Amino acid sequence: MKYGFSQRVRYLKSSAVRDILKVVNNGDVISFAGGLPDEGLFPVDAVSNAFQKAIESNPKALQYGETEGVYDLRKQLSDRMRRHKKIIRRPEDILITSGSQQAIDLFSRIMFNPGDIVLTEDPTYLAALQVFSSYETKVVPVESDQDGMLEDDLEDKIKRLKPKCIYVVPTYSNPGGKVWSLERRKALLQLANKYHVVILEDDPYGDLQFEQGETPPTLASMDENEYVLYTSTFSKTVVPAMRIGWIVGPHQIIRLMSQAKQAADLHTNSISQYALVHLMQDFDLDKHIQVIRDTYYERMLVMKQLLDQVNMEGLSYIEPKGGMFMWVNMPEMINTTNLLQKAVEQGVAFVPGAPFYVSDPKENTMRLNFTNATPNLIEEGMNRLVTVMEQAQMESIEKVY
Ligand SMILES: Cc1ncc(COP(=O)(O)O)c(C=O)c1O
Repeated sequence: MKYGFSQRVRYLKSSAVRDILKVVNNGDVISFAGGLPDEGLFPVDAVSNAFQKAIESNPKALQYGETEGVYDLRKQLSDRMRRHKKIIRRPEDILITSGSQQAIDLFSRIMFNPGDIVLTEDPTYLAALQVFSSYETKVVPVESDQDGMLEDDLEDKIKRLKPKCIYVVPTYSNPGGKVWSLERRKALLQLANKYHVVILEDDPYGDLQFEQGETPPTLASMDENEYVLYTSTFSKTVVPAMRIGWIVGPHQIIRLMSQAKQAADLHTNSISQYALVHLMQDFDLDKHIQVIRDTYYERMLVMKQLLDQVNMEGLSYIEPKGGMFMWVNMPEMINTTNLLQKAVEQGVAFVPGAPFYVSDPKENTMRLNFTNATPNLIEEGMNRLVTVMEQAQMESIEKVY
């Protein structure tokens, strides 16, 4: 072989979502495919002022910085997590990362040897699966329902397989849009404690709740024995381009991740971190998040109402209580990967569900994003999609007879 790559490259896979996004990035296709926040809601003035202030008020904003991250930002995050998530952690227990994606990567780097087992939900976040497989782990799905992982299967797999880690997205998940119940959260924690397994709680969407009322507490807030690593991000609440996420948890783990980060990229981009310090001081982030929630809620309802009008046996969906995605089950004979081709021809795109599965993909599922199109476009896109769905259903019935 000309370049003599490492054996590890065998485990690198291109993301089906990113590949689809390349195809649909043409103006005529209404896309429900990506996981993109709405650009119209980006707090452009606040971000611009914050960058300006960062540059003018502190030369360190343009300098190399500490690997752990800018202390003032970690301090603000520590306060914010205490107020909003009931997570009590010192700034020293926080590592600022280049998006929460890097947190998943650094965590994996220090935790996994080839062949180690990671337990996940199924379906789960595709790019986490990419990371886990790049470290040559074996990912094993745990049976789940709408409330989270099933306790019996979880305990059985922990006992038999001795996993290194359990990875979960328990609040407004990607792709399923579900929220774990309090009971299942407690059960997961209890088993992690009993069998000494670390949990990676990935929470990028936790702030994007649609209706008033209590969201079940984060796993990290209930963690009494230092088993939970919690990661989140500003990608969905401020702007993804800043690439600022963080991970918080047991100090020993955070310290090792910092060392791994030194080797990976020295530190996270200083100017974005200082800009966020200013933004959180000068801008009402909570008010802004409320606008995002209201807007996404309205869009989700538009999508839901259009789906409700479709009269198709076998069609069902999960109504999300927050986040950015709706998970749809089509009649079993419809393969959504084949459907996508036809949908794009009709000017609408989605992500087929199959790539989100660890094993036994359900080929009749799809993920719809409702945050990146206006209500009018959602309506138009859904009309196109429903036409394609109905055609596919007719064709599959004709095949049977
Ligand atoms: C479940 C989940 N985790 C992590 C991420 C990564 O987010 P970022 O790296 O932008 O913080 C995403 C992005 O869509 C996600 O859906």
